[in-house]
Amino acid sequence: MPLAPVPIPRRFEGRSVVVTGAGTGFGAEIAVRAAQEGARSVGVHYRSSVEGAKRTAGRVAAEGSTPVLLQADIVAWDQIKAMAEAAFERLGGVDVLVNNVGDVAREQMSWRDITEESIDHILAVDIKGTMLCVHEFGARMLEAGHGAIVNIGSTVIVRGSARAPQYAAAKYGLLGVTKSYAHAFAPTVRVNVFAPGFIETPMTDVLPDKVKEELKTRIPLGRMGSPRDVAAAIVFLASDEAGYITGHVLNVNGGMHLA
Ligand SMILES: NC(=O)c1ccc[n+]([C@@H]2O[C@H](COP(=O)([O-])OP(=O)(O)OC[C@H]3O[C@@H](n4cnc5c(N)ncnc54)[C@H](OP(=O)(O)O)[C@@H]3O)[C@@H](O)[C@H]2O)c1
Repeated sequence: MPLAPVPIPRRFEGRSVVVTGAGTGFGAEIAVRAAQEGARSVGVHYRSSVEGAKRTAGRVAAEGSTPVLLQADIVAWDQIKAMAEAAFERLGGVDVLVNNVGDVAREQMSWRDITEESIDHILAVDIKGTMLCVHEFGARMLEAGHGAIVNIGSTVIVRGSARAPQYAAAKYGLLGVTKSYAHAFAPTVRVNVFAPGFIETPMTDVLPDKVKEELKTRIPLGRMGSPRDVAAAIVFLASDEAGYITGHVLNVNGGMHLA
């Protein structure tokens, strides 16, 4: 019989946290979890999902934290610079950045359908955009004398992706970005990768039951991850509890990487 879950700890008490891509999916859950963990303010970044970002901001406020909406297209360096400046000013400093934005080339079902345009776009969002967010926020964290950055990877860094090789290439690229800036910013700012497997989200909800059952047979822990599992592990990596961890990849996939 499983034990009852323990209450959510408050590992972000008094901290300010920015989550990119927080108008949708994982990003929204991470932003709300940051608030539940005691963050005094949460920067809710979005590009086009303004209604989703407002919903996330409402959920953040309901947890007693101050939401700050931040808009930027992360393929443009000037927009990232402006976002970082606005975030440090409006949140009164940024202690934690979660780079959750990622384009997964969702519409592409096979490697055969790849286009040059898609390769360029995925690399521009997932590698260049994430790298410049690390660069701009991390440089300001260095000046402030502390900070933690978590880049969201994927289980494709273990398994590759026959569906979308450009997505796997981009997430592998994040390892180079993470390790480089972990060196560059040490010992002041920690930089890590969090790599989730299959998680229960609106995206995976729509999978046919047969596919979900087949997936579970490939997960030693026998189930998909919950948003709570994901958010809790991300908060750990960004919190003082992980104060001796940098340049690391944390795979949270129910053991899929063992196969
Ligand atoms: N879902 C999964 O099973 C899964 C598994 C492993 C890893 N991941 C990773 O988890 C992260 C979130 O995935 P998700 O499933 O929550 O996907 P999602 O709902 O499609 O979220 C993608 C987010 O990225 C933002 N975005 C995309 N291009 C952008 C750009 N050029 N500039 C700024 N923002 C941009 C979108 O913002 P707007 O909507 O505001 O435009 C959106 O909030 C991604 O890094 C993904 O690779 C997901």
